[in-house]
Amino acid sequence: MPVALITGGSRGFGRALAIDLATDGWRVVIDGRDPAALQEVGGWLATLGARSTVIAGDVTSPTHRRALVDAASETGSLDLVVNNASTLGPTPLPPLDRYPLDELRRLYEVNVVAPLALVQEALPVLRSSGGTVVSLSSDAAVEGYEGWGGYGSSKAATDLLHRTLAVEEPALRVYQFDPGDMRTSMHQAAFPGEDISDRPEPESVVPALRALLASDAPSGRYRAEAWAVSA
Ligand SMILES: NC(=O)c1ccc[n+]([C@@H]2O[C@H](COP(=O)([O-])OP(=O)(O)OC[C@H]3O[C@@H](n4cnc5c(N)ncnc54)[C@H](OP(=O)(O)O)[C@@H]3O)[C@@H](O)[C@H]2O)c1
Repeated sequence: MPVALITGGSRGFGRALAIDLATDGWRVVIDGRDPAALQEVGGWLATLGARSTVIAGDVTSPTHRRALVDAASETGSLDLVVNNASTLGPTPLPPLDRYPLDELRRLYEVNVVAPLALVQEALPVLRSSGGTVVSLSSDAAVEGYEGWGGYGSSKAATDLLHRTLAVEEPALRVYQFDPGDMRTSMHQAAFPGEDISDRPEPESVVPALRALLASDAPSGRYRAEAWAVSA
């Protein structure tokens, strides 16, 4: 039974991916800070029969990351780590001339430091399993949108960390996956008061990542829309 560790599995894209993988017989380990939201997904996963684990906690905590990797690797292998949990930072999105620096540091802890730290923790078992690492990217990592400098720069940094990881760990597959706009709470927070009902549900984006994972595509940065046809 393949095993996936997905951060931020309590809602949005992480939740949709966890349920999709579990439906296909994967064992998934997910986290999130809100225990109630996490338990709701845990209930879903239980009905799918997969022996999955939910662990409430914050990805910036070393002991929480250790617990995630321990749970995911208890059978000795780990096939997939998805660095999905992220924060948008302060909203409304502040321009750089008044970006609160303490909030920028917190943003980088969640979006940059924690994903690398999780990979460091998981690397021994990932190496022995020949596993795959996915980090969720964004078009804000490559474009300079007004107000998106904090979040976008964190995603750019995380992209480059994972791109470098691919070079340093050639036996692993390492993907930066840009899902495009999705109708989630993060997206709503970025556009307060706006109707985002025209954005696709995260469940409709998951097949693109599953197609990428099922392919023999080399490590690199991929956009969901490029995989939507084959999905
Ligand atoms: N939605 C979009 O349009 C869009 C576009 C491009 C890229 N992305 C990227 O896609 C990924 C998923 O986004 P989404 O829209 O699904 O986000 P979301 O709906 O806000 O969900 C984020 C998930 O991460 C968890 N999380 C956040 N901070 C955490 C922390 N410090 N520790 C542990 N868990 C934490 C949240 O649970 P708790 O809050 O309970 O901790 C939740 O489960 C993110 O990396 C995002 O940057 C999204």
